[in-house]
Amino acid sequence: MSKKERIDKILSNMGYGSRKDVKKKIKNGIVTVDGKIIKNNSFKVNPYDSKIKIGRNVVKYREYVYIMLNKPDGFVSSTYDPINTTVIELLDEKYKIFDPFPIGRLDKDTEGLLILSNDGKLAHNILSPNKHVDKTYYVEVKGKVTKEDILKFKEGVYIEEDYKTKPADLEILTTDDISKVNLTIREGKFHQVKRMFKAVDKEVIYLKRVKMGKLCLDEDLNLGEYRELNKKEIELLSK
Ligand code: URA
Repeated sequence: MSKKERIDKILSNMGYGSRKDVKKKIKNGIVTVDGKIIKNNSFKVNPYDSKIKIGRNVVKYREYVYIMLNKPDGFVSSTYDPINTTVIELLDEKYKIFDPFPIGRLDKDTEGLLILSNDGKLAHNILSPNKHVDKTYYVEVKGKVTKEDILKFKEGVYIEEDYKTKPADLEILTTDDISKVNLTIREGKFHQVKRMFKAVDKEVIYLKRVKMGKLCLDEDLNLGEYRELNKKEIELLSK
């Protein structure tokens, strides 16, 4: 369960205004905790144990936020970067105040499904190497992808001198000078998809993640758009 937090932080995190706005509300005596007016901004309360009200409204507290983003090219999957624009900068202030972070990384030029949350436990569940959460990518590749490549990926390919990838499922959609494929992997090594194709002498020219675990990218989200996950989707992610 959550620990005690400052009342002004709780209220601003729940969208009742900036810290400054909230402090004004507290000063005006309209905030109560378990029926008592609180005028001290730094008063600490466990929002799960106490009833917080602003005037007549009961504050519905939540600790975590879960966001599905259709990541566009050109943004880095981190919370801070001195040079590049981060995916966090795509979010509205009302989500940024939760301090979300990307669960797993996509390269700067990779598009598609990225989950942002401040739930460290969920992140651990998804990213832990022994959980083997499937990740499916739509990939465009220079050159003809062949049935042999399907077998090689099933078998595992060396992306480092002494590292062979785990069995991966390659599905050829179309193949010509440029091939279009879906690839499902169960690991998350750095540049894994690009390096797997390099291992079979091919070059990835477009990469988009379309699925994580049982959760698919919402096709209604344009690049750079995002929405909160619903309860069912959060459960799907943890499966
Ligand atoms: N594999 C890659 O090569 N890049 C990504 O962004 C994700 C998987």
